[in-house]
Amino acid sequence: MPEQPNIPFFNYPHVFKQYEDEVLDCISDVGRRGAFILQRDLEEFERNLAEFSGEKFALGVANGTDALIIALRAAGIGEGDEVIFSSHTYVATAAAIHFVGGIPVPVECGADHMIDPDAVRAAITPRTCAIMPTQLNGRTCDMQAIQEIADENGLLVFEDAAQALGSKFQGRCAGTFGIAGTISFYPAKTLGSLGDGGAIFTNDESLFDWMYAYRDHGRNQDGDVIGWGLNSRLDNLQAAILNVKLKHYADDLQRRRELAGIYQDQLGSVDELHLPPAPDADAEHFDVFQNYEIESDNRDNLQTFLKAGGVGTIVQWGGKVVHQLGLGVEGSLPFTERMISRSLLLPMHTALTDDEVGFVCKRIKAFHAQSANQRAA
Ligand SMILES: Cc1ncc(COP(=O)(O)O)c(C=O)c1O
Repeated sequence: MPEQPNIPFFNYPHVFKQYEDEVLDCISDVGRRGAFILQRDLEEFERNLAEFSGEKFALGVANGTDALIIALRAAGIGEGDEVIFSSHTYVATAAAIHFVGGIPVPVECGADHMIDPDAVRAAITPRTCAIMPTQLNGRTCDMQAIQEIADENGLLVFEDAAQALGSKFQGRCAGTFGIAGTISFYPAKTLGSLGDGGAIFTNDESLFDWMYAYRDHGRNQDGDVIGWGLNSRLDNLQAAILNVKLKHYADDLQRRRELAGIYQDQLGSVDELHLPPAPDADAEHFDVFQNYEIESDNRDNLQTFLKAGGVGTIVQWGGKVVHQLGLGVEGSLPFTERMISRSLLLPMHTALTDDEVGFVCKRIKAFHAQSANQRAA
């Protein structure tokens, strides 16, 4: 590795290059067949994805945001319905609730950055219809607690699992717990397409039929229009490419877990940091590390120091959680506000070498040693 390496936060060309030969073969095959919209590659991908996750149905759609909107809409969430979600999520989670006419109700996350079940319970009102946990950073939240709250209060559960394909809680995949769960294939996601893409999981056949129609101008599987619909189909070409990548996906997840293990081994003893749970922290969770989100007492200076040493990092959501965006989603969530002011995402993707992650850790330790010296002086 060069003395002054350049370790970007994310490596976009790698999304194409990682399986370049297979992807190019697949592009020529689809192109030569002229198979662009709703073709067999999409059906195959949907079957493979359902099998991978252990859910009955998977439906490919245009992106992860549409996936949420279509799932909420098909399940009948609408005007004035309150939906509880963790404010530590992408604005898309709340936007989906907003666009079906619902009211996004933000709540706190806990120490592992996942929605806090006690906060969910406290936010329930007579207008609450659903809970929408985000399976954040490639981790699945305590779905047993969430489902219990939902059952006790007659609420639906929709999982925003955009960041968590293949992550598990008690052996079950993210996206397969509630009435519907959604995935994003945005290029930087663990299963990244060469553009936008998304999917919805459900076990409910009637919900699937409605979602199937919503994504394609209201047309059912016989081609008959049964209601108003959108055009939110997953491109057949993207589905074909995702089929190629899905074959390698278990290896990719394993690699992410290895990299998280290196971060844990090397940074676990740095007192000033709060790390995500380690890959083998407990038997209930199988985390796939879409992101490696740490908290630091001195986040901004740490980020500047890493940048000067050639290490790219980002602050998730640009440093503002949903209730801080000025979109009319109000809340006072001190735990989450403190967390986001300390949060930093370290490089985490399958193009990283062990040495590069080791270098990032070395720089982080050097920063803290320097800060300790400055305090002592
Ligand atoms: C938590 C979360 N929800 C929703 C989305 C929206 O997905 P997309 O960008 O595919 O619309 C994303 C990703 O971008 C996300 O991280």
